[in-house]
Amino acid sequence: MVVKTFRGLEDVLYNELENLGATDLVKGNRMVEFTGNQAMLYKANFNLRTALKILKPIFEFKIKNEDELYKSIQTIDWSNYFDLKNTFSVDSVVFSNNFSHTKYVALKVKDAIVDQFREKFGKRPYVDVDDPDLRINIHISNDLCTVSLDSSGDSLHKRGYRIKTNKAPLNEVLAAGMILLSGWDKKSLFIDPMCGSGTLVIEAAMMAHNIPPGLYRKKFGFETWKDFDSELLEDIYEEESPENKIDIKIIGSDISEIATRISSENVDNAALKRKIDLITKPIEDFISPKDEIGTIITNPPYGERLKKNEINNFYKTLGDKFKKSFKGYNIWLLSNNFEAIKNIGLHPSKKMTLYNGALECKFLNYEIYAGSKKRKDS
Ligand SMILES: C[S@@+](CC[C@H](N)C(=O)[O-])C[C@H]1O[C@@H](n2cnc3c(N)ncnc32)[C@H](O)[C@@H]1O
Repeated sequence: MVVKTFRGLEDVLYNELENLGATDLVKGNRMVEFTGNQAMLYKANFNLRTALKILKPIFEFKIKNEDELYKSIQTIDWSNYFDLKNTFSVDSVVFSNNFSHTKYVALKVKDAIVDQFREKFGKRPYVDVDDPDLRINIHISNDLCTVSLDSSGDSLHKRGYRIKTNKAPLNEVLAAGMILLSGWDKKSLFIDPMCGSGTLVIEAAMMAHNIPPGLYRKKFGFETWKDFDSELLEDIYEEESPENKIDIKIIGSDISEIATRISSENVDNAALKRKIDLITKPIEDFISPKDEIGTIITNPPYGERLKKNEINNFYKTLGDKFKKSFKGYNIWLLSNNFEAIKNIGLHPSKKMTLYNGALECKFLNYEIYAGSKKRKDS
């Protein structure tokens, strides 16, 4: 199987797969491969927080041009995978000079499948790009073509809890990846003081309470496959280790009342109501809980709509606030405004590159000098 993720999250995805018991792991660019049976495929879709999609390769062949692609696709008996009454779609990714148009590759594959059904049954199945019963994935690298079935269906970042979003929401998979990369222990205080729609605090609460990301999903792609085993999926739901009833403080705060209202709706949808505290306040006035230190992971504005000196000053204020009010904290910040970052005035102890959509960002770690504030457990 091939698990797709975002650039920079391959290591955390690898660890997640290892913890799940997947074998023969091989790390690649924006993906990790593993070997597993049907149960592992279902489990992986249900449990992986940093996976976007899980593909199951069914066929591999060498091709030099579109005609060879058409012929090779026709050697697969597609009625083994879906029926006339089902809809399907074809996605393609091409890294080859022999094929210049990715869309044309997908079209050729679609034609080969439709023609095969027509020849066999006198009728054709229909394409549905939004919600197909079967998603077929074509990957061409030089002359090697891999045909896979997409077991996830809609991207796994669409957990199902986030109904509304505020400005510039983080992708859920990226948010989960940031938390896992930070090494947060999942049992100590967690704060996002610029929480927007609440993505980071919700993902953090799900991790701390051992709630699998697939719990809120209505459907996975494999549920409309011919070999779908509903009992196996039910067993996986039931076998899930119980919710971790941990006493932990998770706080989301934002200057915007609209943002905290949206966060609150999303928190309710995720059934995390009493597990996350939401506050409407500018970070400048945020009061950290007494006698407790913890982790902050946050995604401040990048300043697209602000003047240069305004955003630089805001990042300076952030740095001052970190030093003054969050002594002993482990702070992680994601931003693509590299100039503004310099104004924080703190030396990052770790620096990683992540992508927020198309934006290249730095994910920076600031360990704030503890001073006299004591840890809760000391
Ligand atoms: C990039 S968005 C965060 C998006 C969030 N991570 C999500 O997934 O929805 C930045 C957030 O910072 C908030 N913000 C801007 N200035 C702030 C301030 N001074 N104090 C607190 N929050 C602020 C904005 O209201 C916005 O919701």
